[in-house]
Amino acid sequence: MKQVTVSAPSNIALIKYMGKIEGSGNKPTNGSLSYTLENLRTYVRLTEVDGAQDQWKPLVREDLQKIELSEKGQQRFIKHLQNLKDKWGIKQSFLIESANNFPSDCGLASSASSFAALTLAAAEMFQQINPQPWGTDKKYLSELSRQGSGSSCRSLFTPWALWQHEYAEPMAFEVKNLHHMVVIVEDSKKEVSSSEAHKLVTTSPRFTGRPERAELRLKDLSMALQFNDWHIARQIVWDEFIDMHRLFETSTPSFTYMNDGSKKVLEDCQAFWNKWQDGPLVTMDAGANVHLLFRHDQKKQFAQYREHFEKDFKVMAFEGVKDNVH
Ligand code: PMV
Repeated sequence: MKQVTVSAPSNIALIKYMGKIEGSGNKPTNGSLSYTLENLRTYVRLTEVDGAQDQWKPLVREDLQKIELSEKGQQRFIKHLQNLKDKWGIKQSFLIESANNFPSDCGLASSASSFAALTLAAAEMFQQINPQPWGTDKKYLSELSRQGSGSSCRSLFTPWALWQHEYAEPMAFEVKNLHHMVVIVEDSKKEVSSSEAHKLVTTSPRFTGRPERAELRLKDLSMALQFNDWHIARQIVWDEFIDMHRLFETSTPSFTYMNDGSKKVLEDCQAFWNKWQDGPLVTMDAGANVHLLFRHDQKKQFAQYREHFEKDFKVMAFEGVKDNVH
């Protein structure tokens, strides 16, 4: 029986994918740019099995954290595998097993790493069974992954990924080797899923002009990262996540992910920035937790922020890998 095990990283968007073209298989209404979180990974083991049906189970491995998926979550995974099987013309059935190397109860969405890992595992397996000329083309695999979960298409590239239309592509900016910290202010499952958020934001009056605002920031941020202008980058990244959260608050019905903990962390980040005139890039996803990205030379601040936020919150901190371009 054939078996493959593959892992893929998560990613954090600095210019956000929020809003998709209806019925397009997760094509975005604006381009997005993400930093790849090499340390937060999903592992997928795919095993060829006898029987007529594909199945999902948690992957049990000592070094990994067990994940539980709802029936709906399992079906989404199985549907994505079926889509990939159809592309390769594969008839065999498979057992999908997956696990994360980070706790699933820490409020970190893992759909990007999960779908990227499943796509890569399937590609590796299916190339053995029925090789296709496009079967190892990373941009095409990114396009396939996008159809399972939009943001996953960016997880195929590192350290930066730009996603404009069908697939993501790698970007090599001067800014790299960042240290990553997540201040976990909320670790329960969120009430509004990102799939629902993509739909709801279109009801906000602020959605008019949102693609243009995001595209402009994308252009400006790319320049800032290319020319190592950290201050400008930090301002653009801050404005961008606030813009996304305002969309949530002005939707009908209105919703929010920000809680008192998030607000406190943001206030402290702003106060530190004012004091030192330097600090990390700050961003939030469709969730309450706050992500911080520090330059490689900000190791001292990285330790200071960690010490500060650990007094009140759970903190996950990962030192940047030197020259993580591959
Ligand atoms: O890939 P989805 O449908 O889970 O959407 C992700 C949306 C955000 O995480 C909020 C932003 C992004 O670009 O990753």
